[in-house]
Amino acid sequence: MEFPLVKPSPTIIEELRQAALAVRRQAYAPYSNFLVGAAILAGSGKLFVGCNVENASYGLTICAERNAIAAMIAAGERKIQAIAVACHGAGSPCGACRQVMAEFGEDYGVFLIDADSGEIAAELTLEELLPHRFRWER
Ligand code: THU
Repeated sequence: MEFPLVKPSPTIIEELRQAALAVRRQAYAPYSNFLVGAAILAGSGKLFVGCNVENASYGLTICAERNAIAAMIAAGERKIQAIAVACHGAGSPCGACRQVMAEFGEDYGVFLIDADSGEIAAELTLEELLPHRFRWER
């Protein structure tokens, strides 16, 4: 695992881990019962969180990662420095979330948290998760 950008300090990584686990408990997932929490370290150093929000019309579900990104954007921030995602089995972000994550940073750390143990199970980078991603040259 390579960190081309500055890796957050152990203190910040710990804050991300705890924030992702805490917001996961707010997830609205009555259909899948699969709770996901995401915590973003934004450009300013502030943390933003999101959880998955499901819907009776299943396709309207929004993932935790994209909800955290929406909170970051609504606060006026545009840069992701790192993200932590907490769920059972330390699953990694879906393809749609990866592309949205790529909108706000070229490369950064993605910390996958196993919600059962509460521990960081994997440290990846966005580049590892989504190489050759779609870019639109304006
Ligand atoms: N989910 C996320 O929140 N993030 C992902 O990256 C993948 C899946 C949610 C959506 C749905 O509420 C539940 O997990 C099961 O798919």
